[in-house]
Amino acid sequence: LMASTAYSRPSKPPGPSTGDRRATRLPKELGRIEPKKLGIGLVAGCCLALLTYLSFARLFAIYSPVFDSSSLVVKNAPPVGTTTVPAVVEPQPLPQKGEGEEDKDVTDPEADPTIPNLPEQEAAVVQKNEEPTKPSGGGPEAKISCDENGVDEGFPYARPPVCELAGDIRISPKDKTMYFVNPSGAGPFDATGEKKIRPFARKDSFLLPGVVEVTIKSVSSAASVLPECTRRHDVPAVVFSVAGYTDNFFHDNTDVLIPLFLTTSHLNGEVQFLITNFKPWWVKKFTPVLSKLSNHEIINFDKEEGVHCFASGHLGLYRDRDLIISPHPTRNPRNLSMVDYNRFLRRAFSLPRDAPSPLGEATSARPRMLIIERKGTRKLLNLGEVAAECERLGFAVTVAEAGGDVRAFAELVNSVDVLLAVHGAGLTNQIFLPTGAVLVQVVPWGKMDWMATNFYGQPAKDMRLRYVEYYVSEEETTLKDKYPRDHYVFKDPMRIHAGGWPEIAEIIMKQDVKVNMTRFKPFLLKAIDELQQ
Ligand SMILES: *[C@@H]1O[C@H](CO)[C@@H](O)[C@H](O)[C@H]1NC(C)=O
Ligand SMILES: *[C@@H]1O[C@H](CO)[C@@H](O)[C@H](O)[C@H]1NC(C)=O
Repeated sequence: LMASTAYSRPSKPPGPSTGDRRATRLPKELGRIEPKKLGIGLVAGCCLALLTYLSFARLFAIYSPVFDSSSLVVKNAPPVGTTTVPAVVEPQPLPQKGEGEEDKDVTDPEADPTIPNLPEQEAAVVQKNEEPTKPSGGGPEAKISCDENGVDEGFPYARPPVCELAGDIRISPKDKTMYFVNPSGAGPFDATGEKKIRPFARKDSFLLPGVVEVTIKSVSSAASVLPECTRRHDVPAVVFSVAGYTDNFFHDNTDVLIPLFLTTSHLNGEVQFLITNFKPWWVKKFTPVLSKLSNHEIINFDKEEGVHCFASGHLGLYRDRDLIISPHPTRNPRNLSMVDYNRFLRRAFSLPRDAPSPLGEATSARPRMLIIERKGTRKLLNLGEVAAECERLGFAVTVAEAGGDVRAFAELVNSVDVLLAVHGAGLTNQIFLPTGAVLVQVVPWGKMDWMATNFYGQPAKDMRLRYVEYYVSEEETTLKDKYPRDHYVFKDPMRIHAGGWPEIAEIIMKQDVKVNMTRFKPFLLKAIDELQQ
């Protein structure tokens, strides 16, 4: 089934950790999978990855001949011929810091048009169940359409179910139900007139048990079960969950904020969010983004007692890949791009710089570089040496670890011209760079091309950043202290991937790197060149 979390592990919460936070992060169901011996996070990470790695491995098998960095990104074109949709509403998202912990996900094939036989990216796609019906009493016409069973090869988590509704919609959070007045009864409902969805924008079978399930209940207008509205809204509703891996900055963006942006940014704030698996600290952390997307106070779906009535709404969010979004006739009909997301974030955080400072002009200011430090895994062991060399080359260097204050870190990132970091969630902060700035990704040992490209490299290009990647050699990884040179870690690193997430996590993700300055310096010069373009 779905896979794709292969490279994505649950991360530790960065700030003070509260019981609330932990409880929401880990679905109870995990307990069943493995008795308490191992840290539950570890269990989650491993199992997840095991499940999800399968398709990654399969893709590797399929794509290995084209496995070079020029052809790593899977084509993500919209499928042709999907149908349409009924009216609904929507709009936008977010920011900040990365915690050094995670790497993101998985698979990858590319869209090199010269490569024959790429699998169809979107196999199944949109199943539209559009059902206009005549309301008995002159109310709004009832329509529902659900996008389910969509498939994006290589990104199996990327097509979460989402339903759009229009008509007489009564949301009763305490019943976890959206009553939908639907005289004809038509629509994607089961025999009892229900449709259940866990509205989290990452279709990940491992996470979903921890996501509150919401039922759309189709009722005739005469149905006695129909609750009275305690409040009517004249804007659309969007019901979604913030469960899963949120609080890892990559996942905050990929699993919630970008989907929210895709789904609602065109509504100009005229939308009502109802959030399940509500985490107050998370909502607070991303308030600048959430309040840019919605002018209305968020409803905590887990606690709300009233019945909220709407004329249209969504259950779930549209999502594309991770930090890659493409035009799509129904999921992204306005053809929003990562450049749009960038701009949106700049506005949400009032970030001043749209472009890097011109070099060599009147200003005597030096170009600014931010090195994001990782203190856990994948440390840059000679960070001091790298920073000193960058200073010698003319950069004003700042070294920082992303923290819990999204706005502060966003401001810092937006103030620089070059962002440099070892592969990890911190690179997600590229979303705050000015357009045209340079991202330098240091990629650790272990055939990480796919992850490097699909999680950070292609997104950088899509955001019109300049992108420089540096692959460390076997001389530059601490793996050389752990494994003999004739070990498959060096001779055949794809075998690490074949071993699934446990091996990836244990071998690849835990190494530190010490870059060889002789080898690395040309890449720094390239960053300067790029700035001068
Ligand atoms: C989105 O892009 C498609 C082609 O990919 C184009 O046909 C369509 O008109 C575009 N829609 C908008 C709103 O720009
Ligand atoms: C650093 O890289 C240069 C150029 O590839 C190489 O000649 C040198 O031996 C390397 N230094 C170390 C310590 O590996």
